[in-house]
Amino acid sequence: MNKEIIVSGIRPTGNLHLGNYLGAVTNFLKMQHEHNCFFFIADYHSLTTHPNPADLHANVRQVLVEYLACGLDPEVCTLYIQSDLPQIPELYMMLNMHAYKGELERVASFKEKVRTQPDNVNAGLLTYPVLMAADIIIHKATKVPVGKDQEQHLEMARTFGNRFNRIYNNSIFPEPYAFNYGKELVKIPGLLGGGKMSKSDGDGNVINLIDSPETIRKKMSKAVTDAGPTEPNTQPSPAVQNLFDLIKIVSTEDKLNHYQNLYATCSIRYGDLKKDLAEDMIIYLQPIREKIATISSDAALLKRVVELGREKASASAQKTLDECREAIGFKSF
Ligand code: ADP
Ligand code: TRP
Repeated sequence: MNKEIIVSGIRPTGNLHLGNYLGAVTNFLKMQHEHNCFFFIADYHSLTTHPNPADLHANVRQVLVEYLACGLDPEVCTLYIQSDLPQIPELYMMLNMHAYKGELERVASFKEKVRTQPDNVNAGLLTYPVLMAADIIIHKATKVPVGKDQEQHLEMARTFGNRFNRIYNNSIFPEPYAFNYGKELVKIPGLLGGGKMSKSDGDGNVINLIDSPETIRKKMSKAVTDAGPTEPNTQPSPAVQNLFDLIKIVSTEDKLNHYQNLYATCSIRYGDLKKDLAEDMIIYLQPIREKIATISSDAALLKRVVELGREKASASAQKTLDECREAIGFKSF
């Protein structure tokens, strides 16, 4: 198969949940063996919200630990921390000289921030898509595994890369495109009856990979259901359908059939279903939870992983940056 260069980053915002794992990380696990992958923790991007230094470090560490626990292999892919690469801000600066205020102000994610945090509309926020473009094109990536909400940012990465090529009369940067495995995007439902599992709906809506058995039991016991079926063979409400969907993911088919039959015959007891689902969820996540604990206490391993990632990612980034410096006219004497 033709190997592509893949880049993807996530902002370090705490713990990964089951939705992140099944919706995003499992794709990374597959990709790392098929392509030349660069996965990074986007801590420069986090600065737009002014995190305190201790929180920032703890979040970066936690995401790194959880990535490794899920199975990202730092020997196979390149796993690094964005702020370890000074080449990224250098390219960001170069791209900024040809990024215009008007086009940046029209970006949907910027307009959204202007609305939601009007007291912190800083230049970093305005130029967020430029930094993201630098992340991607510094490795000459062609594919970027991200969700639909990032498509406009990808379009801008293409614009800035093409503009640089044109202005400096070269073809350093290929065009990067958003990328997904399969046609169907998985959507893991949340516990509170609404749509997807997402931390923006509160901790009660998500099962985190590190949640203890006790926490999982407590969250499951509070999962939203309904008053119960009153007539045989009716459609479950969305909240109950969510629970069936979760059973489908973490339990056996027999168990799903069992509860669907009880539902169809109006003899279901949601308390039993939720307890049962909690126990299966605990078993499903146990290997990852154990790995998180082991990896988290292995400071030497983390240091090695970060150094290896920095080394591999820097080499790739420096190569591109040297070409850019040359193209711009920064030549050695
Ligand atoms: P959250 O919605 O909890 O803030 P993020 O937006 O940080 O999660 O998502 C990080 C990655 O995880 C994205 O690639 C996103 O598509 C994926 N993801 C998040 N929640 C789900 C879900 N419930 N089902 C499938 N994928 C998800
Ligand atoms: N903007 C992305 C998000 O909010 C994170 C990100 C930063 C990213 N740089 C990237 C994603 C480069 C892919 C490639 O999810």
